[in-house]
Amino acid sequence: MPNEIYAEFKNALKNSGCAKCALHEGRTQIVVDRGNPEAKIMVIGEAPGEKEDLSGTAFVGRAGKMFDEIMKSVGLETNQDMFIANVAKCRPPKNRPPTHEEAQACFPYLKRQIELVRPKIILLLGATALKRMAPAKKNFSMGDETGKFFEMPEYPGILFMALYHPAALLYNSKLKPAMMEHARSLQRVIAANFRPEPSTAQTHPL
Ligand code: URA
Repeated sequence: MPNEIYAEFKNALKNSGCAKCALHEGRTQIVVDRGNPEAKIMVIGEAPGEKEDLSGTAFVGRAGKMFDEIMKSVGLETNQDMFIANVAKCRPPKNRPPTHEEAQACFPYLKRQIELVRPKIILLLGATALKRMAPAKKNFSMGDETGKFFEMPEYPGILFMALYHPAALLYNSKLKPAMMEHARSLQRVIAANFRPEPSTAQTHPL
């Protein structure tokens, strides 16, 4: 029952009173996730913002809504087809990105989420997620990395894709056409690899 094991993990983390880094001082609550822990697509964002901190659910603010819309345009329902988590589970002051130390302190939780959800695809939203998950990529530019798929030996069987963080699109609408193109690439990869004809669906489910 992977769902039950995940529910147990989530409950324990939410109620843990975690104080592994200074972000605990400013949080209303620990924000663990949003979406479907049985989904084969996992999304990793940066950290909760104000709405997330107050509601206890990841990606429910403006950036989350923009992400929902973009994914919907390529046939993906974020709450059903995706599982969404963040590098940091507590809101940083003034919504700054989490520091390297904060991201490190929170990493065991993210790692456990990956282990329990066992996604086939992980979308990395923005530089914080890309840096944390792919530390071998040094001095990268998001313009070069977004839209590309890659694999990492430490995560066998998982296809990674870097995307712009939807908040970046709110500040710079010129990035939106590229994001739409990347979403269509994702749709093509899913169609080609993970959504086979019904006759083979049992042996290769998404
Ligand atoms: N931005 C993120 O990266 N994550 C959230 O949950 C909200 C905004």
